[in-house]
Amino acid sequence: MTFDHSIKIAPSILAADFADFGRECEAIEAQGCDWVHVDVMDGHFVPNISFGPQMCKAIRPHIRGVMDVHLMISPVDAYLESLAEAGADIITIHAEAGPHLDRSLQYIRSLGAKAGVALNPSTPPEAIEYVLDRIDLVCVMTVNPGFGGQSFIDSQLPKIARLVEMIGEREIHIEIDGGVTTDTAGNCAAMGADVLVAGSAVFKGGSVAAPEVYGANIRAIRKAAQAAI
Ligand code: DX5
Ligand code: ZN
Repeated sequence: MTFDHSIKIAPSILAADFADFGRECEAIEAQGCDWVHVDVMDGHFVPNISFGPQMCKAIRPHIRGVMDVHLMISPVDAYLESLAEAGADIITIHAEAGPHLDRSLQYIRSLGAKAGVALNPSTPPEAIEYVLDRIDLVCVMTVNPGFGGQSFIDSQLPKIARLVEMIGEREIHIEIDGGVTTDTAGNCAAMGADVLVAGSAVFKGGSVAAPEVYGANIRAIRKAAQAAI
C-alpha cells in the first residue's frame, strides 16, 4: 500500500448481499471503488453481530485491492493474528474497546498490517494524541457504530479538522464512517478526510446483476467529495 491524500471510496459490505459477498466485492471493485470496508461486530462492543475472521478469510480472494477491516469488538487482541492471517491490509480497532490501545496497535503492525484507530462520536480526538506515531489511519465514526443506514452526525466535522492539525506531516489516512452520502461527502472532504466509507449510499438500487448502479453511486460520492476540496 502506498500513501496519498486522494479521495478514496470504501464501500462497506455490511450493506451488500450477505449470501453473495464474493461476487459483491468483485462487483464494487469492477465498478471503481478504491478500498473494500469490512465491518466485524461482536454483539458486545456494539449491539449487532456481523461476521468474524473466517468470513474475512473467505472473501479475501475476491478482493484485489485494499481490504480495510473495521473491528467493532472487545476485547480485540485475541483476534488480531487471525485477521492478519486472513489477509487484512488495514486493521482498525476502537479506542474505546480496551485499556491498552498502544499495545494493541504495536501488535497489529508487528503482524504486518497497517494499524487504524476508530473514534466513537463521543470520543475526543485527543484519545489518539499519544499513539499518533503508531497509526496509519484514524476512523472518525459519524454514526454510533453497529448498524448501516443511520444519519450522519454533523458535530463530528470539527473533529476532522482537529485531527488534521494533530496529524501534521504524518502519513495517516483520515477515514469517515457512517452516513456518508452525496450530501455529506463534501463536508468531510473539505475538512480534510481522504477515505469515505459508504454502505447504503453505494449499494442502494444495485445488485450483482445490476452492478452499474454501484458504479454510478461510487462516482457520485467521489464527485461530491472532490468538488468540495
Ligand atoms: C457502522 C459501520 C459502517 C456502516 C456504514 O457501524 O461501521 O461501516 O456499514 O453504513 P452507512 O454508510 O449505511 O452509514
Ligand atoms: Zn465500518
